[in-house]
Amino acid sequence: MTTHSPALPSDVLLRAEHLTVRFGGLLAVSDVSFDVRRGEVFTLIGPNGAGKTTVFNLISRIYQPTSGSITYAGTGRAPLVLTAQPAHQVAGLGIARTFQNIELFEHASVLSNLLIGRHTQRESGFWSELCFTPKVRAAEIRAREKVEEVIDFLDLQHYRDQLVAGLPYGVRKVVELARALCTEPELLLLDEPSSGLNVEETDDMAFWIQDIKNDLGITVLMVEHDMGLVSKVSDRVLAMNQGEVLALGTPREVQNHPGVAEAYLGSIDDVSSLRRPAGAQPARRA
Ligand SMILES: Nc1ncnc2c1ncn2[C@@H]1O[C@H](COP(=O)(O)OP(=O)(O)OP(=O)(O)O)[C@@H](O)[C@H]1O
Ligand SMILES: [Mg+2]
Repeated sequence: MTTHSPALPSDVLLRAEHLTVRFGGLLAVSDVSFDVRRGEVFTLIGPNGAGKTTVFNLISRIYQPTSGSITYAGTGRAPLVLTAQPAHQVAGLGIARTFQNIELFEHASVLSNLLIGRHTQRESGFWSELCFTPKVRAAEIRAREKVEEVIDFLDLQHYRDQLVAGLPYGVRKVVELARALCTEPELLLLDEPSSGLNVEETDDMAFWIQDIKNDLGITVLMVEHDMGLVSKVSDRVLAMNQGEVLALGTPREVQNHPGVAEAYLGSIDDVSSLRRPAGAQPARRA
């Protein structure tokens, strides 16, 4: 199996080409192609069941596409066919993600969760870990420094020693984001960062995402339903419906695309958020 591919244009970090995923008789993703450019926030929108999380699961290598491929060109690496890589190598390639339903160790502290997240990208072997060699010690110091940096960056100092289980939902969402950042990703996948958050927490999330892009220089690929957040932070938006690409463009272009409003007709909340007058609060999904 080949792992190298023709070079991508220098501004492209990830290229999805003709992705198709079939679950039995269901076509969850159908011939989906897009580029994620370095340094942008690229957002997937679409009604429930459109195939957005399935696309994330292809990039994370949780699913194998039925056909099509994903090419990834991390800085300083030759472009490689991601869809030919084993799942455990994805974090080592500089790709981190958060999940639609938060996935944290509930009975561990915030700090432990972040350190565990950091450990997923350790390159040292079993024996050097066991013997705590200078290389391992240096990596441990670097891990702790990075974790503290992220705690400061996301304002989590107050929660660092608390158990995740006792934290409000909105804080857990930020902890999950922190865990992903601790791996120092080049590409960050956020699956519905605002789901379950109130209006104020959603505004905070928009600021974090903008800071992640502008201050940390991390490319963000996001799935999101809240059109207020999508418009605020996205450079480009891809709208999907029933596994297919409906529209691709700026947030405004995609929101004004007639097929997009039509696709949302099944969900009153989502249609109201698409039609919301400027300045009004976004409609929230249950
Ligand atoms: N492992 C699986 N086995 C069978 N069907 C699946 C599997 N994963 C997803 N699907 C189906 O694929 C379709 C796309 O699902 P997906 O989770 O990608 O949608 P989504 O766009 O993320 O929706 P939502 O906005 O509700 O999160 C749905 O019909 C879903 O039921
Ligand atoms: Mg989903």
